Amino acid sequence: MTKQLLLGQTLGFSGNPLTQDWADHVQYHAAGGVLVDGAVIVAVGDGAALRAAHPDARLVDYGDKLITAGFVDAHMHYPQTGIIASWGKQLIDWLNTYTFPEEARLADPAYAAEVAVRTIDLAVSHGTTTLTSYCTIHPASVDAFFTAAAARNMAVVAGKTCMDRNAPDNLRDNAQSAYDDSKALIARWHGKGRATYAITPRFSPTSTPDQLAALGALWAEHPDCLMQTHLSEQLPEIAWVRDLFPQARDYLDTYEAFGLLGARGIYGHAIHLEQREIDRLAEAGAAVVHCPTSNSFIGSGLFDLMGLARAGLAIGLATDTGGGSSFSMLRTMAAAYEIAQLRGVALHPAQLMWLATEGSAASLHMTGRIGHLGAGAAADITVLDLASTPAIAQRHARADDIWDALFPTIMMGDDRAIADVWIAGQKQPL
Ligand code: GUN
Ligand code: ZN
Repeated sequence: MTKQLLLGQTLGFSGNPLTQDWADHVQYHAAGGVLVDGAVIVAVGDGAALRAAHPDARLVDYGDKLITAGFVDAHMHYPQTGIIASWGKQLIDWLNTYTFPEEARLADPAYAAEVAVRTIDLAVSHGTTTLTSYCTIHPASVDAFFTAAAARNMAVVAGKTCMDRNAPDNLRDNAQSAYDDSKALIARWHGKGRATYAITPRFSPTSTPDQLAALGALWAEHPDCLMQTHLSEQLPEIAWVRDLFPQARDYLDTYEAFGLLGARGIYGHAIHLEQREIDRLAEAGAAVVHCPTSNSFIGSGLFDLMGLARAGLAIGLATDTGGGSSFSMLRTMAAAYEIAQLRGVALHPAQLMWLATEGSAASLHMTGRIGHLGAGAAADITVLDLASTPAIAQRHARADDIWDALFPTIMMGDDRAIADVWIAGQKQPL
């Protein structure tokens, strides 16, 4: 296959700019190039030098647009796309009022297939090239999502959401069926093409100890799978967990006691953690995922990004659609900036861009494979127009370096800032 050379400003990273000086880990070229061979990036560097070295490469000239790794959304719920921005509830009421009735509708495989395609189309049009999704309790909802992603050759993570209590009758499985269905889905999807399976107990309030134990056993049998769940999102939720699991030391212990704490575990939200939980997550090498638009929308609290990064936790960034209020990882970065400001920290644009790409990829144990603008990574690429609206353009016009040029798009940008998206070396219809 012919090589393709994308020309423009390029931005990548060589290390974690959260815990070390960000400037040491930025790879920026004002007139850069990204050389793609088939589905893979083979070189990133000075555009003119790459052009001279590869005269036969097909040129795609993006001018002064910014070429970055595609955004990686480390936690979302595709079945909730239709109920995003539903008014007036906090977590438990929001689940019962809006989420569960909508998730029940995905019992219809045709509806699940339609929502899966719609969600992936929306995500890609917002510059996201990897989604990590909860599905519903229905195995066909998992088939629908992996099938829709495969049509774009998109790297995704997903799993059947398991719930055997505190959910409506039509949304409950049981310990054995959750184990059996998840196991069959792992055999069908895990490692097929770009699909990764995540064993998915929704959260400990909706699983009995028997179900948590069954899923812990399943993870032990399939240790290369990821495991995703929710942790310490809202104070009433945490009080409920304490009532349901009186013997547990804390919320994390309701997972730990059943084999559901491990390096390949991804814990969404993780806002109100106790010190023991932070220590255990760090010792286990587990990842937490920051979902800032959701945390303000549902009224959950202020995630301690810098504290948890300093404690050694891997941190991903995510929309948490539809508890989150946007499909855009730009808007998600803006919300992360705002929440950090409320904690007295000003996150640098380099740190925000790293979180949305490399940080999320690391939380999924996919470092260097996705979310990375560098040789050997998948050619999953997002091209940003840094002057996409009149309001952004007038601010961009007075910028004197790349960070001042990029920050208005992070704070004010949306799908209009997405000039192009490439997945596995293929330019996507937007
Ligand atoms: N906790 C358990 N389920 C959910 C969900 O669907 N969304 C959010 N934000 N939190 C949850
Ligand atoms: Zn969630």
